[in-house]
Amino acid sequence: MLRSKIAGIGMYVPERVFTNQDMMQFMDTTDEWIQERTGIKERRFAHRTNETTTTLGVEAAKIAIERAGITPADIDFIVFATLSPDYYFPGCGVLLQRAMKMKDVGALDVRNQCSGFVYAMSVADQFIKSGMYQNILVVGAEKHSFGLDFSTRGRSVSVIFGDGAGAVVLQPTQKENQGILSTHLHSEGTNAEILAMYNPGTHANHWVKEHKLANFNDGEMGDMFMSHAMIDDAQNFPFMDGPSVFKTAVEKFPQVILEALTANNLTTTDLNMLIPHQANLRIAQFVQKKLKLNDNQVFNNIQKYGNTTAASIPIALCEAWQEGKIKEGDLVCLAAFGSGFTWASALLRW
Ligand code: UT7
Repeated sequence: MLRSKIAGIGMYVPERVFTNQDMMQFMDTTDEWIQERTGIKERRFAHRTNETTTTLGVEAAKIAIERAGITPADIDFIVFATLSPDYYFPGCGVLLQRAMKMKDVGALDVRNQCSGFVYAMSVADQFIKSGMYQNILVVGAEKHSFGLDFSTRGRSVSVIFGDGAGAVVLQPTQKENQGILSTHLHSEGTNAEILAMYNPGTHANHWVKEHKLANFNDGEMGDMFMSHAMIDDAQNFPFMDGPSVFKTAVEKFPQVILEALTANNLTTTDLNMLIPHQANLRIAQFVQKKLKLNDNQVFNNIQKYGNTTAASIPIALCEAWQEGKIKEGDLVCLAAFGSGFTWASALLRW
């Protein structure tokens, strides 16, 4: 049976470390609050002008491609997941194709936020299994630091996020016990607005009345793609009802992990490593407890990097592998939940 395997993996985080103490210079917050509520000690912030979401992705991709033993010219399809693209359009995929001087291969951008990487990998997996492509580059990258409200008004969102990138090269494998076993994708749009960045956008407040969006001003504010009033109202920054997101996350994470295991006639005791999307250490710990996983079965690095959204899973997967915590033949589960809501999992044999 033809499957896809991860032939190479890479990660890149910017050099600049931004600690919780650094955050305190800009807003009313404390190291204790951030660590207690999220587990985060520090995150990386990209260089303001020299680094973009695409260039972060390029750095991770170079490593993944080299480790796969190929060159950028061998890549025959690109899937790029991000919520912080260099441009509203075109997407980062084509910018990466240009920067890495690749052939004029297809480039697809995925906009599924926290579950973006798992969605992207699932898309790539289907192209490999169908025999259409042989070397697919899947990237998750974010430059959050450019689009966060660093005043006290935005503190419940801004302290969480960090910049970084991760990438994998998927290739076909015929080996019996290797590669992606299955992927599981879900969405539920009822709560689309509780974790969202509203502007720039074309909604013109269309959803305001229907969904009783308390945080939205009706009327003239929605008449344009972007206006001074929207900026004054912080609608150009991400909005999150954190506690509501938290409640749904701790319900959906275990569900989608068990769904992947059950689909393959496996159980939590078979799992060597769970790589949860690094949203909040408390969420990951809750999931671990609920599924009765031991400390060696779950990898977290949010303490160092914060929540890097589409990049968090490939960064964590790469670091776990680099630290020798994932070995050949290991059963690994990737799981994510976030804005949309969308949630997803992938089960693979390393
Ligand atoms: O990756 C995408 C998916 N996202 C997630 O999964 C995030 C899920 N949610 C969370 O991780 C948590 O809800 C947060 C970390 C965002 C917030 O933690 P919380 O324990 O839910 O806090 P809260 O929003 O209920 O706020 C508690 C208090 C509030 O003060 P009052 O009203 O109790 O006086 C906030 O104003 O903490 C205050 N607060 C802060 N205080 C110091 C909010 N942010 C901060 C801050 N520093 N940065």
